[in-house]
Amino acid sequence: MDSLNQDPQVVWHAQTITRSQRAARNRHRGCVVWFTGLSGSGKSTVANAVEQLLFERNTQSYLLDGDNVRHGLCAGPNLLEHEYGPEFAKRFGLGFGPEDREENIRRVGAITELFASAGLICLTAFVSPYRKDRARVRSWVERSGSPADPIPFIEVFVNTPLEVCMTRDPKGLYQQAIAGKIKNFTGISDPYEAPEKPDLELAGAAYSPEVLAKQVIDLLVKRKILN
Ligand code: ADX
Repeated sequence: MDSLNQDPQVVWHAQTITRSQRAARNRHRGCVVWFTGLSGSGKSTVANAVEQLLFERNTQSYLLDGDNVRHGLCAGPNLLEHEYGPEFAKRFGLGFGPEDREENIRRVGAITELFASAGLICLTAFVSPYRKDRARVRSWVERSGSPADPIPFIEVFVNTPLEVCMTRDPKGLYQQAIAGKIKNFTGISDPYEAPEKPDLELAGAAYSPEVLAKQVIDLLVKRKILN
């Protein structure tokens, strides 16, 4: 934890168990594997296939998926209103405007930092369309390790052409976005800023999820996160 993350009224409390102790017991390091790409690109499917392979290797992991997290931690106003009332829902509920996506990624980024610090391989599957938001999470995660041993943040770009995502349209959302029924829809009426230098780029339309998942595992081994 460095000075950028300090609040004069809330003092950071060092914890007793170290990351290297956790890594020694788990026989792998904690890290964040951040999948980014258009809706329908295959992020969730590939991330699930990676987690299946990790599970078979007795690895401690957890997948945070955009659609699921938006049912709880990052719920939208409609979900919150019933239990918490309209004012609260308006203040804390998240939609898809640029600031709401920024807050979505900030909250999720903070969770990934905790999970990776706890020794897990934390996988995420969020559209996360803005470079700035992804870069911020990367620097936050990396800085929360020690300077000599930053927590690895691995950005995986699931590069599936928009036309393929639109043809897949598993939730019928592209169709609704084109008809103007959903606003701010990434790729249609909202931007997607592709990573300039991802740690790994997956050709989402060319290979099966299992083949792509193996590419992720190979990178984790190469980076000495797994044996
Ligand atoms: S992010 O941009 O803030 O990272 P996130 O990954 O949480 O997005 O949620 C994206 C999911 O919400 C998509 O898979 C899609 O199912 C759904 N969705 C609903 N509205 C939109 C929208 N306007 N833009 C993108 N995805 C949307």
